[in-house]
Amino acid sequence: MTVVETPTKTILSIKDLKTYFPIRAGVFRKVVGQVHAVDGISLDVIAGETLGIVGESGCGKSTLGKSIVRLVKPTSGSIMFEGHDVVTVDHDTMQGLRRQLQMVFQDPYASLNPRHPVHEIVAEPMIIHGTSKAEARERAGDLLRAVGLLPEHGNRYPHEFSGGQRQRIGIARSLALRPKLIVLDEPVSALDVSIQAQVVNLLEALQEEYDLTYMFIAHDLSVVRHISDRVAVMYLGQLAELASRDDIYHKPAHPYTHSLLSAIPVPDPDIEAQRKRIVLVGDIPSPANPPSGCRFRTRCPIAQDRCAAEVPQPVEIRTGHMVACHFPLDEGQTLVELVGSSRR
Ligand SMILES: Nc1ncnc2c1ncn2[C@@H]1O[C@H](COP(=O)(O)OP(=O)(O)OP(=O)(O)O)[C@@H](O)[C@H]1O
Ligand SMILES: [Mg+2]
Repeated sequence: MTVVETPTKTILSIKDLKTYFPIRAGVFRKVVGQVHAVDGISLDVIAGETLGIVGESGCGKSTLGKSIVRLVKPTSGSIMFEGHDVVTVDHDTMQGLRRQLQMVFQDPYASLNPRHPVHEIVAEPMIIHGTSKAEARERAGDLLRAVGLLPEHGNRYPHEFSGGQRQRIGIARSLALRPKLIVLDEPVSALDVSIQAQVVNLLEALQEEYDLTYMFIAHDLSVVRHISDRVAVMYLGQLAELASRDDIYHKPAHPYTHSLLSAIPVPDPDIEAQRKRIVLVGDIPSPANPPSGCRFRTRCPIAQDRCAAEVPQPVEIRTGHMVACHFPLDEGQTLVELVGSSRR
């Protein structure tokens, strides 16, 4: 039997990406500091995969996504896509790339124009990119069908739909230009739990049908578990850990990943009652003034002196498993046993 290795092709390559925002104050709006929203991220996205991006509020997930589709201009670094660097590419070339790089937002109501009927909302990107109105309208009907709505729904307005249906409209619009990569920024977080699975299932079916690559942003590790091939864990503008789904859930190495995993409830009430949790103390530090050394050290239950002095560089601890920590946990080790139950 010949073993055929699945070739992996990088579709997007991010190197040392930094996206900072100025902090302004006073009557003259003088720049008094900078928010380091994304602060030195390097990662490759593989064609056809779903890469989950997880981290707490404010850690820079949306800024990373917006930098990729150039809704915000990165400060430095590079994002290579189709032979172009999205960070420095000229406006006209970016227009062309934008067809292939799309973003779907958390709040489908805020991102859909309430005054336009749905067929116009879905057709608009095609018309902007030169498709005739008649053809765009016909394709909009097809796209609505593809996301589980009816072409007749096109004559209605966004407020006439439920949250889940509105997100389907947002997804149809993102598909209009036949993109290769879609950044899904918390696409189901605003929806009822019962609707979330339906939308996730739809996204999976569309990925198969249209050969899509996804970056799927979420707050916690439970949402992306089912859909992701790999997961990147972010903390304060940087990557803490990046690995295959199985490694992240079964062999987590970064103490931050451990604490995120311990926050996911277990469905079995007996196990849940027995389980010891590591609850992180303190707030997330400000991205305008991140801690020295390892950014997680101010909340890390196993931090040592070295963590304040030296920035941990990402290290590959096993194939495809990167972790940025001076004291990564071994397979099978838990934070609870390292810290002791007194510090639960
Ligand atoms: N346009 C902007 N101008 C100034 N600061 C910004 C801007 N956009 C984001 N920030 C700041 O950058 C940091 C990262 O924000 P971002 O929205 O990327 O985080 P996030 O991980 O998506 O958070 P959430 O989970 O709440 O959506 C935050 O401190 C935020 O206040
Ligand atoms: Mg966000």
